Amino acid sequence: MNDRNLRELLAPWVPEAPDQVLREMTLDSRTAATGDVFIAVAGHKTDGRRYILQAISQGVAAVVAQSEDDTEEVKISILHGVPVIYLRRLNELLSVLAGRFYGEPSRTLHLIGVTGTNGKTTTTHLLAQWTHLLGKVSAVMGTVGKGIIGQINNTAATNTTGSPVEIQQLLASLKNQGASLAAIEVSSHGLVQHRVSHLHFAAAVFTNLSIDHLDYHCDMVQYEAAKWRLFNELDVVQRIINADDATGRRWLEQLPQAVAVSISGDLPTLWKGNWLCADKVHYHAHGTEISFRSSWGTGLLYSQLVGEFNVNNLLLALATLLALDYPLPALLATTSNLQSVCGRMEIFHVDRQPTVLVDYAHTPDALEKALKAARLHCHGKLWCVFGCGGDRDKVKRPLMGAIAEKYADQVIITDDNPRNEVSQDIINDILSGLLDADGAQTISGRTEAVTSAIMQAAPTDLILVAGKGHENYQIIGQQRLHYSDRTTVACLLGEK
Ligand SMILES: Nc1ncnc2c1ncn2[C@@H]1O[C@H](COP(=O)(O)OP(=O)(O)O)[C@@H](O)[C@H]1O
Ligand SMILES: [Mg+2]
Repeated sequence: MNDRNLRELLAPWVPEAPDQVLREMTLDSRTAATGDVFIAVAGHKTDGRRYILQAISQGVAAVVAQSEDDTEEVKISILHGVPVIYLRRLNELLSVLAGRFYGEPSRTLHLIGVTGTNGKTTTTHLLAQWTHLLGKVSAVMGTVGKGIIGQINNTAATNTTGSPVEIQQLLASLKNQGASLAAIEVSSHGLVQHRVSHLHFAAAVFTNLSIDHLDYHCDMVQYEAAKWRLFNELDVVQRIINADDATGRRWLEQLPQAVAVSISGDLPTLWKGNWLCADKVHYHAHGTEISFRSSWGTGLLYSQLVGEFNVNNLLLALATLLALDYPLPALLATTSNLQSVCGRMEIFHVDRQPTVLVDYAHTPDALEKALKAARLHCHGKLWCVFGCGGDRDKVKRPLMGAIAEKYADQVIITDDNPRNEVSQDIINDILSGLLDADGAQTISGRTEAVTSAIMQAAPTDLILVAGKGHENYQIIGQQRLHYSDRTTVACLLGEK
């Protein structure tokens, strides 16, 4: 579409749509303004059709609405002089409509979709950072923000996958800012809800699939099927698959053109497609060294990232960029500058001080993974400072206590967001999961707890401060107080 025009926008479905110039496209009546086209769909929480009159009163030039009944043919009506066009299954058409409206931006840059249970945020950030280091304008969209690398507000959490309109709009704006790569997190919800259905992906990456949070096998089957759609139904050029994951391995059998990536070096027998495998991984005090072989050549990576799962994420990002023809020598030369995502296994290290990792882990499973990852890099004692939120899931408290005791050498239990509960009650719930409650220290003030750990730990020790990650607040009672583990740690280590 050259001009944004209602007739052109709807040409495949409603050739007789009025000739009407449009300004922006919006799904939210509150932001609808003069000249916009308001898209009214029946959503999960609200039905946008209830706000058609409101949008009209705000001056929209046209409304495209979902038919009441999906068997109904196209209907055009005029309401207060504004054309209102009803389309069947409009919710499924949003990606294609927005793509037409915004000039198919996914075709003008390298769009990479990353899906999987864990590692999406990290892998998308690695892809964007890496190409940024090569001098490109690169962007991300996902849980810890959206936009061009270097200009993202890290604390503004968003939906993992935005609405179809948001995605196309963002891509168009990125294209206008000269972006050549956008890495987006694609959740299974996003896939099922057709939020990415009309995008052109230069590459799709699969990290892993685990059964966390799923109670029924049938959920698992649907969950896998949702993720599989990205690889077998959507418009994707390169597919990069983690061959160490059982699901990934199964998928590779059906995707002979895919790129297989493995830490264990165990590729499917007679693999003919492109591939990348780790040879040796060395976890040292402040990062990781990985030697690898691949169908593009061999190399050695030095990374500040920690934990085995980040080796996975790094290799997936590397294989993706190689598959997109980024040159291996330039990628190798920049690896050591890649940084962890804000508050995700983020390393703080100053000479003659203990090393500190700040991580967002706030569930038993995540805490276990973070501690196991931290252990790989720890040459002295491993400390764990954490707490649990108030007014929320109490079941996890003793479980997290038990995990901290099992995987760390020294445990300091502190406050997370106590909210309306008494801090000591939460701490007692956590302590009840420990075999030896006297072996743990309890310091309710979070700043004091982190300070105490840093004061007590030896320079060879490693301290994991878990639970808050990128967050910059703490909720005590009804108050939301400014607090950041990252700033606290950086100040204490004298980094600032
Ligand atoms: N490849 C991976 N495999 C397993 N766990 C991972 C992986 N990458 C990261 N993690 C763990 O999962 C947490 C979430 O990682 P993140 O990159 O934010 O993934 P997502 O966006 O998929 O939730 C991290 O803090 C880390 O503990
Ligand atoms: Mg995420």
